[in-house]
Amino acid sequence: MTRWFCLALVPLFSHLSVASPVSGPESDTARLAPRYEAGYESPPFYPTPHGGWVSDWRDAYAKAYEVVSNMTLAEKVNLTTGTGYWMGPCVGQTGSAPRFRIPNLCLQDSPLGIRETDHNTAFPAGITVGATFNKRLMHARGVALGKEARGKGVNVQLGPVVAPLGRKPRGGRGWEGFGVDPTLQAIGGAYTIKGMQSTGVIAALKHFIGYEQEMYRMSSIITTGYSSNIDDRTLHELYLWPFAEGVRAGVGSIMTAYNDVNSSACSQNSKLLNDILKNELGFQGFVMTDWLGQYSGVASALAGLDMDMPGDGAVPLLGDSYWASELSRSILNGSVPVGRLNDMVTRIVAAWYQMGQDEDYPLPNFSSNTEDRIGELYPAALFSPTGVVNEYVNVEGNHNITARAVAREGITLLKNEDNILPLTRNQSLKVFGTDAGANSGGLNSCTDQGCDDGVLTMGWGSGTANLPYLITPQEAIGNITDNVEFYITDTFPSDVTASDNDTAIVFINSDSGENYITVDGNPGDRLVAGLNAWHDGDDLVKAAADAFSNVVVVIHTVGPILLEEWIELDSVKAVLVAHLPGQEAGDSLTDVLFGDFSPSGHMPYTIPKSESDYPDSVSLIDQPFGQIQDTFTEGLYVDYRYFIKANITPRYPFGHGLSYTTFNFSNPTVSVVTALDTTYPPTRPTQGSTPSYNDSIPDPSEVSWSTVTFTQIWRYLYPYLDDPESITASDTYPYPDGYSTTPLPEARAGGGQGGNPALYDVAFSVQVDVTNTGSRPGKAVAQLYVTLPSSLGLDTPSLQLRQFEKTRELAAGQSQTLTLDITRKDLSVWDVVVQDWKAPVDGEGVKIWIGHSVADLPVLCSVGDGCSIS
Ligand SMILES: *[C@@H]1O[C@H](CO)[C@@H](O)[C@H](O)[C@H]1NC(C)=O
Ligand SMILES: *[C@@H]1O[C@H](CO)[C@@H](O)[C@H](O)[C@H]1NC(C)=O
Ligand SMILES: *[C@@H]1O[C@H](CO)[C@@H](O)[C@H](O)[C@H]1NC(C)=O
Ligand SMILES: *[C@@H]1O[C@H](CO)[C@@H](O)[C@H](O)[C@H]1NC(C)=O
Ligand SMILES: *[C@@H]1O[C@H](CO)[C@@H](O)[C@H](O)[C@H]1NC(C)=O
Ligand SMILES: *[C@@H]1O[C@H](CO)[C@@H](O)[C@H](O)[C@H]1NC(C)=O
Ligand SMILES: *[C@@H]1O[C@H](CO)[C@@H](O)[C@H](O)[C@H]1NC(C)=O
Ligand SMILES: *[C@@H]1O[C@H](CO)[C@@H](O)[C@H](O)[C@H]1NC(C)=O
Ligand SMILES: *[C@@H]1O[C@H](CO)[C@@H](O)[C@H](O)[C@H]1NC(C)=O
Ligand SMILES: *[C@@H]1O[C@H](CO)[C@@H](O)[C@H](O)[C@H]1NC(C)=O
Ligand SMILES: *[C@@H]1O[C@H](CO)[C@@H](O)[C@H](O)[C@H]1NC(C)=O
Repeated sequence: MTRWFCLALVPLFSHLSVASPVSGPESDTARLAPRYEAGYESPPFYPTPHGGWVSDWRDAYAKAYEVVSNMTLAEKVNLTTGTGYWMGPCVGQTGSAPRFRIPNLCLQDSPLGIRETDHNTAFPAGITVGATFNKRLMHARGVALGKEARGKGVNVQLGPVVAPLGRKPRGGRGWEGFGVDPTLQAIGGAYTIKGMQSTGVIAALKHFIGYEQEMYRMSSIITTGYSSNIDDRTLHELYLWPFAEGVRAGVGSIMTAYNDVNSSACSQNSKLLNDILKNELGFQGFVMTDWLGQYSGVASALAGLDMDMPGDGAVPLLGDSYWASELSRSILNGSVPVGRLNDMVTRIVAAWYQMGQDEDYPLPNFSSNTEDRIGELYPAALFSPTGVVNEYVNVEGNHNITARAVAREGITLLKNEDNILPLTRNQSLKVFGTDAGANSGGLNSCTDQGCDDGVLTMGWGSGTANLPYLITPQEAIGNITDNVEFYITDTFPSDVTASDNDTAIVFINSDSGENYITVDGNPGDRLVAGLNAWHDGDDLVKAAADAFSNVVVVIHTVGPILLEEWIELDSVKAVLVAHLPGQEAGDSLTDVLFGDFSPSGHMPYTIPKSESDYPDSVSLIDQPFGQIQDTFTEGLYVDYRYFIKANITPRYPFGHGLSYTTFNFSNPTVSVVTALDTTYPPTRPTQGSTPSYNDSIPDPSEVSWSTVTFTQIWRYLYPYLDDPESITASDTYPYPDGYSTTPLPEARAGGGQGGNPALYDVAFSVQVDVTNTGSRPGKAVAQLYVTLPSSLGLDTPSLQLRQFEKTRELAAGQSQTLTLDITRKDLSVWDVVVQDWKAPVDGEGVKIWIGHSVADLPVLCSVGDGCSIS
């Protein structure tokens, strides 16, 4: 299939909500003036702290210094700016610096596989990975993703996602991340990053930050995206938590969100980028925009942005940019300090060296733009040279094994009355629902999976990949038994004869995705069916439950789904949530349905009884005019934290998941590792030195078109100017209030990647034996929650997940000892006055709980009193 292109201003800009024909080289912000919510402002923090002071990055920064100190202005600007939408094989690419053997860096989606190509693996989505609670699989999937990226020549792979956190149950992209809890997101993200980057690819942790709704997310010249108004403590304890862990894992890049925080766009918010990310969290890599999420040139550079993607200005495809030649101009006219540009480029080149991309890293051998072998090299150029763009390199390896293992271990058994599961291979089965079958239009027939047709393997949008093949549940079940009839329909058929011996398996789903595609009236967010199943799935289950006395419901869903219409019906005996399984949907399911493996997934979010059980503040905000103020008034009380506080019993609690066997916890012990002998952590280390360059304004000839010998490609974004000699430096730029070039004081809570290293000292280590007390093999998860004492003086959720471990497969009767470590930070609250993490001295009053879900915690340990089991 050849992809269709629009070469003029046709609204196929896959991340753009609105376009307008007006454009200038640079007005400093393309956005309408934001509206402010009383009390929520983003204070100025300038200048950007330089990278290079963290020891893990020292060698990479030393190599980058050798290169950057010899670069011309054109080379530097090249590496910061994308070459433009559809101006190369990848969804985005920077300019190059051939003198230093630095190619156009290829940036490509997605968090679950290489997007817009072939012979790749379509892995289970993040939410499925979260449901495994299996760190080894989180890492293994990261390694496989990284190998595929490297094999295709992708330098920067756009994932993993830890924001959205999933605050809004109807939010369209919660499924790309690991679940509605900061610790689950943090561990999922960090293990994925370590896996990916071990192969040499640069991971891009996204979207920074407060991006919880699809509708009205973007700013443009005719609208302003919503503002997520988040107080400092909530930001630190929930939304920033997984980013801190990702930075600690050494992530090479971070992508900003489209929305504002406190009415300042994330891509130009100096408090977020300069202070929180680069000062407090000590981030050493580079910050890029989301696609077309840059809204100013000078302002974004000063606020700490390092790379703009895909390079275009307010209106894409016109050949305009906020940076490129305009960044050259703002260096020559003195508005952006040369030191800021040097830091941007050093961060980018250092990340490239840090991952070893200077040695034998392949160039892109695929094209996002076409599936043909020969195609245009720069489709947006109108008259583009052509060449071989697709080499169809098969990068799948044996990654289908990991994909199937993740999908299988994510499958979560909610209910299993009369031990109806597992099924025997000779049982009489009747299977219902289009969600058991194939896409009626064919594999990958909907662009970016933008339809809900057949088994739901992933949501839609940029966080997707083509399925190389798909094993549907229908195929996998049909491969195991002949004693089955399939009714691949969402309307219960009138001609079904039900006998007492039959087991009905009903497949239903709920889909969502990214805002640039609307599916069945859902603009990304789940606007139409809300939290109920799509395609009248509830009616299908009820009809089957009427006809059959043994019904198994299989659910593929992006997030919380309501089961109330049928969950208590006598004949609904078992419910499995298979989340979003990717290409191995069928085999992973039959692995569990027929008992080759016991289910071992656990819910990465709460299943409520009613949507009204959530606080009003997490509803979608649908308001077409004026800037939406989305104020996070529920604070820390998201998902189970809220349900517990409001004393609302959910249908199934966070962390719930049954097995075919049972497990017992015994012999819990808690030991002190690093004494928590102070309220605040020990004083942070002082920052080491950073590269020091000649920061004077370079010679304008370095960016003069007159020195260029190659043929210019129309609309391609270059660093060059026609008459740069005419530009004179002045200090008349209207800098933002609070702008300064005096380095920021080092953040008290900083000092290493992820913050003060002492925050990550293990304070307590808990050991517990897990025994398989049932009769079948299986894996158990130990979830550790903490209750912090009121002596900290702050209202804090009564239970917070802080650690988990999964056993290996235990045979009946077998035991394994698990060790669960908790750090100083795990027991701390963010003190907004002191701007540091505050812990109870010696862990006094802390309760440590271990169990099977947030509502089933038999083990209780406290320091001094030891542990008990109830
Ligand atoms: C947003 O405003 C709140 C309330 O004043 C403040 O606590 C927080 O630090 C601000 N955050 C940012 C990123 O500006
Ligand atoms: C710059 O390049 C020269 C040679 O081209 C090299 O000797 C030098 O080490 C490089 N780095 C610096 C900082 O000058
Ligand atoms: C800037 O990048 C372009 C490719 O994007 C390349 O053609 C050009 O030579 C680069 N400029 C320099 C000075 O390296
Ligand atoms: C310098 O150039 C930039 C980019 O065009 C522009 O935004 C800025 O206003 C200019 N500064 C001055 C002082 O004219
Ligand atoms: C494409 O990838 C293959 C395998 O990784 C590699 O051998 C080949 O050189 C790459 N193509 C280019 C143009 O780098
Ligand atoms: C997984 O990939 C291997 C190697 O390509 C292949 O032999 C095997 O059949 C695949 N498994 C499935 C379930 O498709
Ligand atoms: C089905 O197979 C099981 C063993 O897998 C056996 O115990 C049972 O009797 C069989 N039932 C029928 C109806 O054949
Ligand atoms: C069908 O079953 C066979 C034998 O169990 C297995 O090797 C094969 O991978 C299965 N194929 C599918 C599509 O499930
Ligand atoms: C139900 O199963 C029993 C044996 O387990 C068999 O004798 C009977 O014929 C079956 N009934 C139908 C309607 O298939
Ligand atoms: C389960 O654990 C409890 C507490 O350690 C113990 O008393 C009990 O014997 C265990 N049960 C089994 C079946 O192992
Ligand atoms: C710094 O750069 C400026 C502009 O290119 C140049 O004139 C000056 O000689 C350089 N200074 C040093 C010490 O290299």
